Amino acid sequence: MRAIAICGSPREAGNTEILLKKCLETLESEGIPGELVRLSENRIEPCSACEKCFKNRDKKCVITGDAFQKVFDKMIEADIVVVGSPVYFGSATADMMALLQRAGYVSKANGNMFSRKIGGPIVVARRAGQNFTYAQLLYWFMIGDMIVPGSTYWNVAFGRAIGEVNNDAEGIKTVVRFAENLAWLAKKLWGDG
Ligand SMILES: Cc1cc2nc3c(=O)[nH]c(=O)nc-3n(C[C@H](O)[C@H](O)[C@H](O)COP(=O)(O)O)c2cc1C
Repeated sequence: MRAIAICGSPREAGNTEILLKKCLETLESEGIPGELVRLSENRIEPCSACEKCFKNRDKKCVITGDAFQKVFDKMIEADIVVVGSPVYFGSATADMMALLQRAGYVSKANGNMFSRKIGGPIVVARRAGQNFTYAQLLYWFMIGDMIVPGSTYWNVAFGRAIGEVNNDAEGIKTVVRFAENLAWLAKKLWGDG
């Protein structure tokens, strides 16, 4: 079993990354290795609506010259897909949505390639917009035939400056429990292997 945690923030070592690392550390402690992928290091253009993925049905996007295919292939190889985004004007980042919209379309064109993978979103903001952004990202999982476990709260946290999210004990606790539930569910579904 493998996990991938995708960070939609342009800030390296920022609050989103801190939360995703907590998630990966918890999975690792449960025997599930994972990888952090930063979209800041993997530029991805938006979907051009060419619909060639539906014509070709070759599990690829025809836009080349960016990091989409590399990140998409890692998502497909993983059993657990977690996405994290800061809230920007009440929404997930453009980087994150560019990835998810292209990944979602290529997946649909090829018979729902994310079917029954497990995962979910994690969101952080200074003050407001977390719930909307959490829901926005959740829509991607739910239309993708995926399975999302809960936690003891929604996976949202507070923080503005880099590192501030460490002061949000409840936010961290929620993410750790979410990761525990991912591991619990993964083992129920696929055993310890
Ligand atoms: C362009 C921009 C828009 C933002 N919009 C919001 C917002 O709508 N609500 C909010 O509470 N914080 C907002 N923030 C603050 C970030 O969500 C916050 O600093 C977050 O911790 C950044 O996560 P990061 O460290 O992973 O980049 C915004 C920040 C930026 C740069």
